[in-house]
Amino acid sequence: MSEGRAPERRLAFFGGKGGVGKTTLAAAFATLLAGRGEKTLLVSTDPAHSTGDILGAKLSGEPQQVEEKLWAVEIDAARDAEEYVEKIKADARESVSTEVLPTVEQHLELAKNSPGTEESALFDRFVDLISLCPAEYDRVVFDTAPTGHTLRLLTLPALLTAWAEGVVRQREKVAGMERMMRNLAGSDAPDGDPILERLRERRHKFHHARHRLLEDTAFYLVLIPERLPIEETARALKTLAANGVLVETLLVNRVFPDAVEGDFMRSRLEQQREYLEEIEERFGEKPVIKIEQEARDITDRAQLASIVRQLDEAGLA
Ligand SMILES: Nc1ncnc2c1ncn2[C@@H]1O[C@H](COP(=O)(O)OP(=O)(O)OP(=O)(O)O)[C@@H](O)[C@H]1O
Ligand SMILES: [Mg+2]
Repeated sequence: MSEGRAPERRLAFFGGKGGVGKTTLAAAFATLLAGRGEKTLLVSTDPAHSTGDILGAKLSGEPQQVEEKLWAVEIDAARDAEEYVEKIKADARESVSTEVLPTVEQHLELAKNSPGTEESALFDRFVDLISLCPAEYDRVVFDTAPTGHTLRLLTLPALLTAWAEGVVRQREKVAGMERMMRNLAGSDAPDGDPILERLRERRHKFHHARHRLLEDTAFYLVLIPERLPIEETARALKTLAANGVLVETLLVNRVFPDAVEGDFMRSRLEQQREYLEEIEERFGEKPVIKIEQEARDITDRAQLASIVRQLDEAGLA
């Protein structure tokens, strides 16, 4: 670790506007860490399966080893949302009366397709994967969806903790009432309360995840030297700061090499320089690392190696 840096954090999130290079840079960072001997898990949420393509492996919902110290997993939020709803349905079958069950099931079926459900399912998976570190993995690198979505995910634990607490309290009240009614009727109380148990478990999980996101997470914001990604970065920095998430470094991707030729390319280079200056001016209190625009898309490990080298030379840890 170089002098003056924040203490090393074991969880890394790569975020930024659509298409700026989150998947590419997250894969490069995970490869770099693994190359240094840290047992690393790369978590992708990219529905285009590009992480698998870059690493030359067919990935699934379970972590899979792709090189000596590198594992990768691809989360499918839609599939997870389905499983998640099925789990809740199973709980409901155990604990609600047969008269209301069809209504509850219908309601859950509708919930399956709402974006909030996918987000919760994704968050649940993130929380599970976070808990594998440091026991199973030294580092976990999350390649996330575009900024807005990721920010909601990171701020979700704060909301969910409060929500889960409220629901647990409500449920405790209801359970107390139910007990009282049963006593009045002279019937025996059934063992435990599966819903309450699950809610308590979730409350505990959210609470723990929130702690890890505040204490053990570094956020890497990726952008390219263009107007809209710069503005999105400004917004993301504000939101992350307001939620106590540490932004470790800004990664400016697709920076042209100096030696471009032709009027058109020189003009683009000139424009990029203006944006790069603006980035330094507006965000310069954070470390800013520049990654070169390669001649071709990064679609395999050989091409990724150049990006890995650049991150290494920039001292990313
Ligand atoms: N430095 C670079 N040089 C050349 N091509 C690059 C570079 N960085 C990324 N690319 C290419 O740009 C495209 C988008 O990159 P990537 O998929 O990593 O972006 P993303 O931010 O993950 O996108 P999304 O928001 O859709 O998930 C890919 O085809 C990738 O190969
Ligand atoms: Mg991506």
